Amino acid sequence: MFNSNAADRVVQELRGLTGAAPAGTRLPSVRELTVRHQASPVTVAAAIRQLVAEGLVETRSGRGTFVATRAAPAPSSPPDMSWQTVALGPRRYGEEEMQALLALPPAGAIPLTGGYLDADLQPAAALGAALARAARQPAAWQRGPVAGREDLRAWFARETTRPYPPPTPPTASGSGLPASSGGDLPATASTGLPAAHNGGLPASHDGGLPASHDGGLPASHDGGLPASHDGGLPASHDGGLPASHDGGLRAEDIVICSGGQAALSSTLRALTEPGDTLLVESPTYLGALATAHAAGLRVVPVPADRDGVLPDQLAAAFARTGARLFYCQPLHANPTGATLAPARRPPVLAAVRDAGAFLIEDDYARDLTIDGAAPPPLASTDPDGHVIYLRSLTKSAAPGLRVAALGARGPAGARLRAARLLDDFYVAGPLQQATIEFVTSPAWSRHRRRLRTELRTRREALLTALNRHLPDLLPPTVPSGGLHLWTPLPPGTDDVAVAAAAATAGVVVFPGRPWHAAEPPAPFLRLTYAAAPPSAMAEAVRRLATVL
Ligand SMILES: Cc1ncc(COP(=O)(O)O)c(C=O)c1O
Repeated sequence: MFNSNAADRVVQELRGLTGAAPAGTRLPSVRELTVRHQASPVTVAAAIRQLVAEGLVETRSGRGTFVATRAAPAPSSPPDMSWQTVALGPRRYGEEEMQALLALPPAGAIPLTGGYLDADLQPAAALGAALARAARQPAAWQRGPVAGREDLRAWFARETTRPYPPPTPPTASGSGLPASSGGDLPATASTGLPAAHNGGLPASHDGGLPASHDGGLPASHDGGLPASHDGGLPASHDGGLPASHDGGLRAEDIVICSGGQAALSSTLRALTEPGDTLLVESPTYLGALATAHAAGLRVVPVPADRDGVLPDQLAAAFARTGARLFYCQPLHANPTGATLAPARRPPVLAAVRDAGAFLIEDDYARDLTIDGAAPPPLASTDPDGHVIYLRSLTKSAAPGLRVAALGARGPAGARLRAARLLDDFYVAGPLQQATIEFVTSPAWSRHRRRLRTELRTRREALLTALNRHLPDLLPPTVPSGGLHLWTPLPPGTDDVAVAAAAATAGVVVFPGRPWHAAEPPAPFLRLTYAAAPPSAMAEAVRRLATVL
């Protein structure tokens, strides 16, 4: 067993000895150290590994541990790297925000930010077992097809046509799952939303179409509507969208990438020239904005509301800019949580088609639907290859499962596969093998079911806490899935200053400004409910309230 006190004692002794002895001096054996410090061999080995990593000792197989050859002493005058300032030129847009987005929360702070699941929600045991099995198979370490394993590509392709959650036979009582509870919020909806919550994001411009996308089931996030339904969904579950998906993706259209960000970055560089225009729904994922700027693109925002991008504005933006590329997240968009309404899907696709353009569908939240059923990806109804499809497993499973699919049909697919080859060659074989093992095992379905329940619990806990401590920050629309709430701040509030003050008060939140490609229409915070346990939400919001 590992004992950190004993390990510290071993490290101290060896460090002392290496300081005094010349390189090549033999150090006490593992057995001697084990006896002297009453430490297990595992503990001693860990201590030695630490000193090897520090360059103080080296191990020689079968012969023991020795003082390592010392590195050359540091030069007496400090290095002069000032020339790099001129050579590098200005810093890239968005880099700082991306570093903030991916920063680990300081010790003791409660994270209401972060794009990934809390460790408690990750299927670590199943992933670990799958990876251990994969790593033991020599074939997994060999070169495979550069586009990725055939079976994994086929799985991703099939997934574009598979409803989630899977339809279950109706039961006598309707939903087989319990309705979400509203905590101690006014009991107007299953999510516990207060009755008035339909502002903030501009109202729908589709002539009063409902925000619900679940085929006539009441949406749990429309105040005053009945409780949400999780089960008992009929096979046609997507609000009149066809259940068969002509033109969906095939295995040969897919290339496996090391995460969604890599896929996005390659796509933008492969399909554009510097100076081209990229349309984005606004607000949008700041990693997309940053990578677009890095590719030298001009980013033009297109307004969106709680039902997703406005199709007429999208068509106008294509006409005005001559853009050939539009980036969007039709399902539980990060940061707003908005889902493209069924009635908007045809006009959005028509605007893209009429412009002879591509639509990058970032389906990062495919497994994160909490209420009702997710509509199928746009890519499943795209016979002519306008949709470039992107789905990552880092959000669904664990940030370390850096496996994503990039799907495109026709010459665009060939170009993307070629671009990925230049960027990365291919994704590590053991990781691909572990992924296909994991997603085809019962552990995957179990994980997705549990995730749905757990995300709902956390979303409710955060809403309840907001209602109690900061009711003005309740989001006008509660997203039916995803990881975040997009909450309005009082007009005139400096969201960046609020986020900085909140961090000092022990709660990490993300300001709304960096998610806009142009001037934000109002101040917002993005509050993540997936990164902290439900029991921490009340304290997190109480801390936030102290700085508002
Ligand atoms: C909308 C969206 N797309 C893509 C990514 C990239 O994720 P990853 O590279 O971990 O798959 C993120 C990460 O936050 C995201 O929020």
